[in-house]
Amino acid sequence: MHVEPQTDHSPAHPPLEALAVQPLLNRDYETRPAVFYERLRAEYGPVAPVDVLGVPAWLVIGYPQTLDILRDARGIWSRRVGNWRAYRDGAVPADWPMLPVVESDNCGFRDGADSTRLRSAWSEGLRPFQDRTRPEAKALEQAVRRYADELITVLSEHGGRSGWADLSAQYARPLPLMVIGRLLGSGADSGDELIIDLWRVMDAGPEAREASDRLLARVAELCAARTAAPGADLPSYMLAAVPDLTAAELAGEMAMMCGLVGDVTGTLICNTITEVLIGETGARDSLSAGLIQEAINRATAANPPMANLAFRWAKADVRVGRFQIAAGDPVMVSPAAAHLDPAFTSAGAPDSIYSSRAHLAWSAGPHACLGRDLATVITTIAVERLFDRFAALRLSLPADQLPWRSSPLMRGLRSLPVTYELAADPPAPQPAPAEAGEAPEQDPEGDGGQDSLVRRVLRMMRIAQP
Ligand code: HEM
Repeated sequence: MHVEPQTDHSPAHPPLEALAVQPLLNRDYETRPAVFYERLRAEYGPVAPVDVLGVPAWLVIGYPQTLDILRDARGIWSRRVGNWRAYRDGAVPADWPMLPVVESDNCGFRDGADSTRLRSAWSEGLRPFQDRTRPEAKALEQAVRRYADELITVLSEHGGRSGWADLSAQYARPLPLMVIGRLLGSGADSGDELIIDLWRVMDAGPEAREASDRLLARVAELCAARTAAPGADLPSYMLAAVPDLTAAELAGEMAMMCGLVGDVTGTLICNTITEVLIGETGARDSLSAGLIQEAINRATAANPPMANLAFRWAKADVRVGRFQIAAGDPVMVSPAAAHLDPAFTSAGAPDSIYSSRAHLAWSAGPHACLGRDLATVITTIAVERLFDRFAALRLSLPADQLPWRSSPLMRGLRSLPVTYELAADPPAPQPAPAEAGEAPEQDPEGDGGQDSLVRRVLRMMRIAQP
């Protein structure tokens, strides 16, 4: 056991506020995170005091300590912002960029029975989409395959058999966005607007604020409608599982879902393609051997999309590594850094064709990811279609010059520039679905027509030609 409850209340070091001088966001963190984490490990051990955009926090970089905190067997860690001492004391700046995240009232930031209630709504609500024998799951897989094929057709149709593309903006990021409307059951009723607003929010450009307000209003409207008249969609299935969910609670969960499906799953797709193209982490060998899920597992461990997990707060004084964490201190656990800890890297057989499933990219314990199967299916299809349709894909920048996003939480690329050569025989277009229980489409998506969902959205994103 690595986390010891503190009995001696006189720490042998200054408080966090006086120690946190290392900024988390720095050039090495963005371009060579392994170098940064190893420097922290050498200086501080398994937990390091850091400055997160002006706010002091403990960054947990040891694998056993990360796992202990995530499992929280002794109920020491809270996800309620009210347990943050500096927040209660008014010492957190009102414009601190992560405030909206930690103040959210979704299941990620609830504790105990409050969290369990929402998590049971999630697991029941997602079941029809994650159980691959169910018609909803089959229909969703067919749709993802069509979206992937059409995105590839669009990105390659203005060049010849070879050309240049940004696989982040033109493929990995738009693909899961298309899934969101299906989960919400928004169909043709302004699903496009919702997707494009989420894109604007993810881009964090000048329109992001307004787009976010519109998106939340639209999601709230949709959830209120589902509460009044349930359908065959995720919010309705969640309500069926936990009937006392309020429309506001449902809207909070669906707003979180938009980020998890749109942004985090898009990042997983992009990171997997990147690891395969760079070829250093075994992801390429796994793909060459036909082991797509193994390639995804290797890429996820090497580059977890959620590199660091938004704060947890100590409810009691507790010793972690070389430091005594005071009650009310904020802690960020870092799966990305934990995966570089020799305690994790030396555990597996290096020449095994299967990599460790004990990585923490999907978290663990009472807040572990509930959408892992769905995200893995979407990513598997995305990777499979891409490497089937292209005979060759090469990075058009040296790997060490790829532009990583600057974020305390996410590890993803701003763009993934590649040169490509199409395979000789493109697959026949997938027929519009009429089997496997697929609900009839409200619009002509999937037939590759000029008014398909993919083309409409890409035109609005200004990625496809009008
Ligand atoms: C289909 C898309 C996804 C859905 C529906 C989904 C669903 C969820 C839900 C409901 C939670 C909250 C659990 C709780 O707090 O009790 C969660 C947490 C989490 N998910 Fe996912 N997820 C998806 C994609 C992903 C992806 C692609 C990754 C990364 C590989 C990921 C990693 C995580 C992690 C690390 C957490 C814990 C976050 C934390 O503790 O701060 N998820 N997910």
